[in-house]
Amino acid sequence: MSEFRALVLHEEGGTVVPLLETLDENRLPAGEVTVAVEYSTLNYKDGMILEGQGRLVRAYPHVPGIDFAGSVLASDSPEFKPGDPVILTGWRVGELHWGGYAERVRVPAAYLVRRPDGLSAKQAMAIGTAGFTAMLAVIALEGHGLAPEAGPGPNDVLVTGAAGGVGSIAVSVLSALGYRVVASTGRPELRDYLTGLGAAELIDRAALAAKPTRPLDRERWAGAIDAVGGATLATILTQLKYRASVAACGLAGGSDLPATVIPFLLRGVNLLGIDSVMCPRDERLEAWRRLARELPLEKLDAATETVSLGEVPTLAPRILKGAVRGRIVIDLSR
Ligand SMILES: NC(=O)c1ccc[n+]([C@@H]2O[C@H](COP(=O)([O-])OP(=O)(O)OC[C@H]3O[C@@H](n4cnc5c(N)ncnc54)[C@H](OP(=O)(O)O)[C@@H]3O)[C@@H](O)[C@H]2O)c1
Repeated sequence: MSEFRALVLHEEGGTVVPLLETLDENRLPAGEVTVAVEYSTLNYKDGMILEGQGRLVRAYPHVPGIDFAGSVLASDSPEFKPGDPVILTGWRVGELHWGGYAERVRVPAAYLVRRPDGLSAKQAMAIGTAGFTAMLAVIALEGHGLAPEAGPGPNDVLVTGAAGGVGSIAVSVLSALGYRVVASTGRPELRDYLTGLGAAELIDRAALAAKPTRPLDRERWAGAIDAVGGATLATILTQLKYRASVAACGLAGGSDLPATVIPFLLRGVNLLGIDSVMCPRDERLEAWRRLARELPLEKLDAATETVSLGEVPTLAPRILKGAVRGRIVIDLSR
């Protein structure tokens, strides 16, 4: 096929306009590996790009899509050969580089990882950037001492933004690993969904959302994965157990951090930054290996909705409003 379908963003008078177009393969950027994309996904950052927020895209026309799974069509790299199943997340693909909302992409070989055995292309994208980030957070917490039975006192692990993409996969993985997971959500109507993923208890996100008034609160969390940021992250810091950690993944609730240093000084807590975009390759491979092994696939199915490329623009405002449940997979064959 020398032509392929893509969702192309154009900038018209300061507004970003998405159009479903047919492009010739000679429009693909330079790169070592050409991939036939089977699935992509809608992440929070995709929502920002589709809505023209955050100046993430500097040059139009642009093909968005920050992740994809597919198979290699052609390769100038000895690392990949035609037919190899591959996954891409991060490296600013979909922002600086053309991304996965297209039937064809061309990227440097170093950006790709081989899809692990046991995960289909669709399952890999049901995980996608959000689920990959959740696993990086789990690995970071474990690296700082989190274990299912981590000593006396409360051993609950908190997940905020629990019904979103990062949150849903974090809840599923943590509960499968034997942690007692407390899911913070603004959508109590999703109780059955979250308990189905493995949450032992739900708390209203409003309970964490106010700027803390005291530097230390009752010790409640053996660990936390936070997709929300802002006052929520500041509150978590005041409630971590002695020497416990919070993995900071997101800013769905804000990018400020109205905190004090007291929890670091008096409780030795850790604030762990999680970046999925420039994450080194060996850590990527480890995260995907663990996802293939440890994420229960029936929970992944329960967290996933599949849509066509043409439906994506209408979903972008929904993910930015926090109204998407779990993960949205884009089927390029639809
Ligand atoms: N560090 C990285 O490399 C990396 C990678 C991927 C994503 N992220 C970031 O992680 C965050 C989550 O991404 P995602 O793809 O999971 O997005 P998502 O599916 O939209 O999930 C975000 C969730 O946060 C909660 N939320 C939304 N607005 C909120 C608000 N104003 N206050 C408090 N909670 C709010 C909602 O959960 P409830 O309805 O359950 O409350 C929502 O479902 C985003 O900020 C994204 O940019 C970072």
